[in-house]
Amino acid sequence: MSDLKGDLSEAVAAAFAAAGLPADLGRVTASDRPDLADFQCNGALPAAKRAGLNPRDVAAGVAGRLAGDARLTSVEVAGPGFINLKVSDAALAARAAEVAADPRAGAQGVSRPRRIIIDYGGPNVAKPMHVGHLRSSIIGESLKRIYRFRGDTVTGDAHFGDWGYQMGLLIGAVCDEDAAIAGLVETLNAGGDPDGALPAAFEQVSLADLDRLYPLAAAQGNQDTAYRDRARKLTADLQARRAGCYLLWRRFRAVTQVALQRDFHALGVDFDLWNGESDADALIEPMVADLAAKGLLEDDQGARIVRVARESDKKKLPPLLVVSSEGSAMYGTTDLATVLDRKQTLAPDHVIYCVDQRQADHFEVVFRAAYLAGYAVEGSLEHAGFGTMNGADGKPFKTREGGVLKLNDLIEMTRAKAAERLREAGLGAELDPAAFDDTAHKVAIAALKFADLQNFRGTSYVFDLDRFSSFEGKTGPYLLYQAVRVKSLLRKAAEAGDKAGAIAIGEPAERDLALTLDAFDQAVAEAYDKKAPNAVAEHAYRLAQAFSKFYAACPILAAPTPAAKASRLALATAALKQLELALGLLGIETPERM
Ligand code: ARG
Repeated sequence: MSDLKGDLSEAVAAAFAAAGLPADLGRVTASDRPDLADFQCNGALPAAKRAGLNPRDVAAGVAGRLAGDARLTSVEVAGPGFINLKVSDAALAARAAEVAADPRAGAQGVSRPRRIIIDYGGPNVAKPMHVGHLRSSIIGESLKRIYRFRGDTVTGDAHFGDWGYQMGLLIGAVCDEDAAIAGLVETLNAGGDPDGALPAAFEQVSLADLDRLYPLAAAQGNQDTAYRDRARKLTADLQARRAGCYLLWRRFRAVTQVALQRDFHALGVDFDLWNGESDADALIEPMVADLAAKGLLEDDQGARIVRVARESDKKKLPPLLVVSSEGSAMYGTTDLATVLDRKQTLAPDHVIYCVDQRQADHFEVVFRAAYLAGYAVEGSLEHAGFGTMNGADGKPFKTREGGVLKLNDLIEMTRAKAAERLREAGLGAELDPAAFDDTAHKVAIAALKFADLQNFRGTSYVFDLDRFSSFEGKTGPYLLYQAVRVKSLLRKAAEAGDKAGAIAIGEPAERDLALTLDAFDQAVAEAYDKKAPNAVAEHAYRLAQAFSKFYAACPILAAPTPAAKASRLALATAALKQLELALGLLGIETPERM
């Protein structure tokens, strides 16, 4: 099944071809002037230019060939040579009926499904998450759902940051605080079993300890060389799987992961894989040997690097630091080894890294090294970067105290705001406390996610909870409210025994709703191609608005005839299904009531 726009494009392309013009110029888009037309084709202008003809004449020739098309009620040439198309009520009704009958609400899948990995979230052991992780989680989750919806096999991997310098910092800090642990680490480092059971003293280390110690250790490491050197040494010990460091690190990893999974889950973000940087560790040694054998590795003052700069580069790219002078694996090393690991385990056709735009150079370096070494097909690794979520000061968002915002605190804060907004709007009064909390939670998540996803990912935006959580305007809560309104209407209809029936289109608001329903496939395809969930967000908003106008202009339960009532109920049902699907692709769930 294809959409009306696609079908009309085919018809117009055929008319172009029949007139001896390039068929690919016969493409149709939604009209810029909905008051004049439903669709338009601008291809007569370039076609005329190429053929050295008058564009209005060319347009008139094409229009003439379309005149007999039963789906069109008018074909007109406008302005310098635009072709304006108006679609018949019957064609719109037929298309709306298809959308209504389709579990995918009119959206097609890809013709050749691929195996995709989406690397997103990227939280770190003990280091609190910042807004970059929030955006990565929200955008990555949406991309995962959009790709899956289009038919690809998608694996979402959190790529847990668990193997770098911050691990050494933390091991040192915990040892400084607890002499018993320090003693155990030393003894075990001398010959314990890294795969053995955790000593009871290690089991005592809590997430609260790590949260408290990490910022102090990070600050000290910044100003104290000896402290920093020790942390580097401990990182190297960890990576060498010396049992004291390794077992303590296993505890850090476990407590962090449990808390993170809980927070992500509350946000409606769930990963298929929680692989960490450390999971690629076993591949690093053979990889280094392989890079050396391929002649890609160079010594550079005790470190080992791969040069990736190219003559044609406008900007100078640093080399990939594979082994540091202390012998440690670096951020880029684990990323390169992860490319290899994924190739061996999942054999992806394409990998999308949904990570802060500020890491663009890092990924360019890693990707080039991977292509040089033959670990991935050129072009199969892609960085889908994004801008920052800023505070009112225009800098990346911080808490009022100037600290990093914790995901859990953000969700709590947003939930409290959502509850306040619901009460203000006089909503949720008839819900029991548990249902009210559930609704407030869904409103909160919708507020956060929609505020993020309505912008193209590359754009930075300002965090403004008051605006995000409003029930008016282009917000998540507005969309949920519209969806809930349709649900309640459909419940009432069901109670009264009213059923949906054949769709007939007549009123302008019905036409507009049907045209909007038709545009879903294109929105999803665009979001997919450009890794841009904002196309789906925009569609959801337009659909909610089209529904709202339809609801105001066309009485449903009080429709003039039983047939009109049945038709409008079918339209409302289709609109709800499509709206919930679109919101689902954004990772937003709708409550039943509010
Ligand atoms: N943990 C990293 C950070 O906090 C993000 C990881 C992104 N993914 C990757 N494959 N490097 O910045």
